[in-house]
Order: sequence, then C-alpha cells, then structure tokens
Amino acid sequence: MESFVIEGGRALYGTIKIQGSKNAALPILAASLLAEGIHQIDDVPRLLDIDVMVQILTRLGVDVKREQNTISLDTRTILSTVVPEELMSQMRSSIFLMGPLLARFHEVTVSKPGGCAIGERKIDLHIKGLKALGAKIEEVENHIICRADRLTGTTIVLDYPSVGATENIMMAATRADGETKIIHPAKEPEIVDLQNFLNMLGAKVSGAGTDMITIEGVKRLHSVPYYQIIPDRIVAATFMAAVGITGGKITLKNVIPAHLSKVIEYLHNVGIEIENDHDIMTIKRDNRRLKAVKKIITSPYPGFPTDMQAQFMVLLSIADGISTIEETVFDSRYKHVKQLISMGAKIEVDGRLATIYGVDHLFGREVVASDLRAGAALVLAGMAAEGKTTVHDIYHIDRGYEKLEETLQALGANIMRIKKM
Ligand code: EPZ
Repeated sequence: MESFVIEGGRALYGTIKIQGSKNAALPILAASLLAEGIHQIDDVPRLLDIDVMVQILTRLGVDVKREQNTISLDTRTILSTVVPEELMSQMRSSIFLMGPLLARFHEVTVSKPGGCAIGERKIDLHIKGLKALGAKIEEVENHIICRADRLTGTTIVLDYPSVGATENIMMAATRADGETKIIHPAKEPEIVDLQNFLNMLGAKVSGAGTDMITIEGVKRLHSVPYYQIIPDRIVAATFMAAVGITGGKITLKNVIPAHLSKVIEYLHNVGIEIENDHDIMTIKRDNRRLKAVKKIITSPYPGFPTDMQAQFMVLLSIADGISTIEETVFDSRYKHVKQLISMGAKIEVDGRLATIYGVDHLFGREVVASDLRAGAALVLAGMAAEGKTTVHDIYHIDRGYEKLEETLQALGANIMRIKKM
C-alpha cells in the first residue's frame, strides 16, 4: 500500500496543464463499443479508473493500444457481452456499458454495482430508462441480465438528473428505432462531450447541457479517427482550492472557465483572486485570511459540484468565521470530516448539513483516504497544516488524479509518495 507524506506550509507557484476529464473519458471509452472500427481518443488521463475500463473493454474483445494519453480501440471483434464482476466491483460507473452493448448486441450482463464510500449508488433510473426503450431486464442473484431484440425510441422523464443514467440512455438510444427524448437529464459538461463523440460516430444527438436531450436513432455508426477529451474541471478546481489553502500564485493551462462558474464564484467569495484568459486561468492568494461562506449547497450541474465538496471544506476549515455545506447529491459523503477533525478542524455534521467553524491552522497527522475526492482534500489539508501529514490508502486518489504528487512537487509542495512495507 502507498501513502503520501506531506510537510505543510509551502505556498504554490508555477504553471501546470490540466489532465483530460476522467468523467468524460469513461463514458466515451464505453461508447466506442457502439460502432465497429478503430477509434482514436486523445487526452485520456492515466488513472486507475481508466485502467479498469481498459481491462473491461479488453475482456470484452476490444483490442486496446495506449500511447501516453492516447488510446486506440479496435472494436471490430467483440467476444462477450458479460461485464466481468470483479472489474465492475472496482468501478461502479462501468454500469454505463449497458447502453452500448445493448444497442449493438441486443444483450448485456452486468453485476449490481452496490454502494461505496460516498453512498448508495442506486441504478433504478438506468433500469427505468433502458426498460422504457424496450429492454427486458432480469435480476439473477447479483447479476442483471438485459436483452432487447430491438430498442424503440420513446420519451423518458428522469426523476433525478443522474449523470450515469443520462449517459446510458443516450448511448442505448443512438441505435433505437425512432426518436428518444430525455427530459430532466444531467447537464454536466461531460454529457456534452459524450454527445459530441456520439455525433462523431454518426449518431444524431442534440440538446446535451439543456433540459431535454433528443436522440434520433440511426441504423449504422462508424469509427472515429480522432477525438480529444475535454479538460477535467474537478482536477482544475482542486488545484484552484489548493492555492486558496496554501497561498501563492499558479497558472492552469487546458481549462474551460465556463465549466467552473459556480466554483469560481465561491472561490471569489472566500477571497481568492482568479483571472481567466480563454483556456488559461491564473489563481492567486495573498496572506490575508480566507473568508467564511454562509452556505454552500452541492447540486447537479450547473450547481456547486459534489466532487468539490470535500476540497472546499478544507478551505473553509481555516477561513475566518462559520460556514455551512449541504451535501444534497450523495447520502454519505462526509467520511473526510473525522480525518479533518483529527487535524484540528472544528466541524459538526447533522445529516446532510456540515457546519465548519474556521480555525487558525491545522496540524499534521496520520489520516486515511476514504474515497477519491476525500483523499484529495486530505492532501490539501496536509499542505496547509503545521508539521508532517501522512495520507494512507492513496490508491483512491490515483483513481482520479494523474501523478498528483509530481504536479504538486512542480508547484513547490513538499510531498512524497512512499510504499508501506
Ligand atoms: C457521476 O457519478 C460521476 N462519476 C461522479 O464522480 C459524480 O460525483 C456524480 O456523477 C455526480 O456528479 C462519473 O461520471 C464516472 P449520478 P454517477 O448517477 O453517474 C442517485 C468522482 O469523484 N441515483 O448522477 O454515479 C445516486 O444514488 C465521481 O469523479 C439514483 O438514485 O452519479 C446519487 O445519490 C464520484 N438512481 C445521485 O443520484 C440512479 O439510477 C447522483 O448519482 C442513479 C443515481
């Protein structure tokens, strides 16, 4: 098992390039199954979650080649439509392989993804959408077996704008007979990126990012010779929060400010200066104390992203005053609170509401990452704390951040990756 060892108190200075978006790359890699051919996808981040998706695709019969951040996928020979259980359990979001396999092969078997550290990862909206398109779904023990001799376009109203369910339905509907409308879909930028990739495959998808997505089914799809994934907005926001916590001045390249409006608004509110220049952002913070924020509510895009909740809590834990956060997206995404309290933070949690009483500083401690974003938050806390912090179980962090310690070292942080014997 590996850990990060961090000596706090170092301000960050320098310029970094933001990685491609994990949450855009994963559904787009799955969507490549929709069409026979050789697809090339660029700016795919090198992450554990991408490794798992590549393993799944390989087990299904896709010939995958990786060259740095470019992945080529030969999807002409698919041998199986059963998603391996042991791989699915490593990455629940692989549930959106159902859509493409159902659309092209009329059958797919997956295992129930089950809950995880941030909450119950229900899939009822995925099932409801695929059934509405005509899929017959059977649950046998821990498996879900789906069959659909044909998929027929229809209107699907989502009770909740689930990102994964929206993506599953979009992909399944690309080859359905007729038109499908998804009402109240997720509007994240990663949904728009998926729409753009599907249209490069020859699909007819429109409306992503709005309250209604329309998919006109087509008979055939073709390969995509080149596609570039959008930048990772959550990774960019994490580094913006890092400067807010440590002080200093950094420049981020390969960012889309429009994807970060809510985060930028709140960073301004706490007293961090941000300048945008197309796909370059400069973030700086002087040594004035950060200001508390009365209330932050996480919500589906374009609201404040739940994937930034833990990182922002660290910022607020050393701000001047009392802040509150309400986590409305996941039912138990506060596992980082206990760890932050052990570092001297003053935080009270009551259900989905966290109240943060700002303190002057945090103290270095041994802490444990519980999930991807909580782990990143603990690294940020370690960089702000006095003394040494060790973050254990950093494989969680490697799921979503490409070489985090190397990037932070380049910005001046004192952080090392160590292997625990
Ligand atoms: C995606 O997960 C992201 N993952 C998550 O990022 C992100 O936190 C989440 O969207 C919300 O923005 C990927 O894109 C790979 P949801 P997903 O379906 O699709 C409930 C990260 O850190 N729900 O929008 O699983 C569900 O229980 C990860 O990169 C149902 O009730 O999110 C949850 O409470 C973490 N029924 C809420 O909706 C369903 O059928 C949001 O889930 C589906 C979801």
